[in-house]
Amino acid sequence: MTQETQPVTQDLSLEREAQVASFYKENTPPIRNFKGRDILLAEQFDRESLEILFHETSKMEELLKERKITDLLSPFILATLFYEPSTRTRLSFETSMVRLGGKVISESSVQFSSQMKGEVLEDTIRVVEECADVIALRHPKEGSAQKAADFAFIPIINAGDGGGQHPTQAFLDVYTIKKELGRLEDFTITMLGDLRFGRTVHSLTYLLLLFPNISLHFVAPAYLKMPEGILRFLERKGVEFSQTNQLDEKTYDSDVVYVTRVQEERIKEFDSFGPQRAELLKNSYQLPADFPKISKAIILHPLPRLNEIPPEVDQSPTAAFFRQSSYGIPIRMALLKLVLLGN
Ligand code: NCD
Repeated sequence: MTQETQPVTQDLSLEREAQVASFYKENTPPIRNFKGRDILLAEQFDRESLEILFHETSKMEELLKERKITDLLSPFILATLFYEPSTRTRLSFETSMVRLGGKVISESSVQFSSQMKGEVLEDTIRVVEECADVIALRHPKEGSAQKAADFAFIPIINAGDGGGQHPTQAFLDVYTIKKELGRLEDFTITMLGDLRFGRTVHSLTYLLLLFPNISLHFVAPAYLKMPEGILRFLERKGVEFSQTNQLDEKTYDSDVVYVTRVQEERIKEFDSFGPQRAELLKNSYQLPADFPKISKAIILHPLPRLNEIPPEVDQSPTAAFFRQSSYGIPIRMALLKLVLLGN
């Protein structure tokens, strides 16, 4: 059995808690100089490191307006290793590298990969680092980006590790909130959907607790609740949060509503009841089509969306998810520049 098809049998919330605990035990200081750093978890960032990233991102936005290709990263090669489906994230990493004059090598189909022959991730990474200067890795197993980083001499960027984290998505999510609301403080955000297996909301939660007066509201069916490890972490940090299993007044009163899809692929593999559970949960929540008429909240979604946001919502000025997606390129351009050349 390959690593990709192994059923996930561990308790994700406990594993996540252990990951956070071990991170803090090492007491790694937040990133200041990005050069050569692995980007694995949102917890590596504080407000200052985000400011450095966002400052660089706005410069990249200017560059993109002119649709220019520069040669800033011309000596460098990015390897994108994507062992899970992706359109946006892989293409935006690759576009970002090309727009900065760098080259890209890519393994996007696990079907044709040596991983399919049973090669362990460590061996793949050892070989790929001979070919590239930085690796963007997407893998179905939580913790795999950390594992790759333990072996690699070149920077690893976590482009999504199973139900774990997706820090670069969270950077662009926070950047979008800043652009749309004009502030990164004093707001209420509702996260709606699969908060258990959806990794983007895990990274986003860790980033948001860096900012003052942010109230977090989690709306999810019981089985898809935010992992206990993250909730306990919020309690320890004294961050205000609430939870419910259906859209309520607080959802409508929020400033931001962040919707996610049911991560069917991960639910199916979780245990032997997975396939039936995924089927039941698939249609268990949806943003009402008239939501933007009633609520002022900006609507975000990491995409791809299935049926959780009806298309009628798209024309509303508060539907910000395609604007959000477009920030993926300047954010990843900034990150690649910082990791390869430094601040
Ligand atoms: C997300 C992911 O891969 O975690 N997509 C993305 O990167 N934009 C969300 C998802 O797949 O639901």
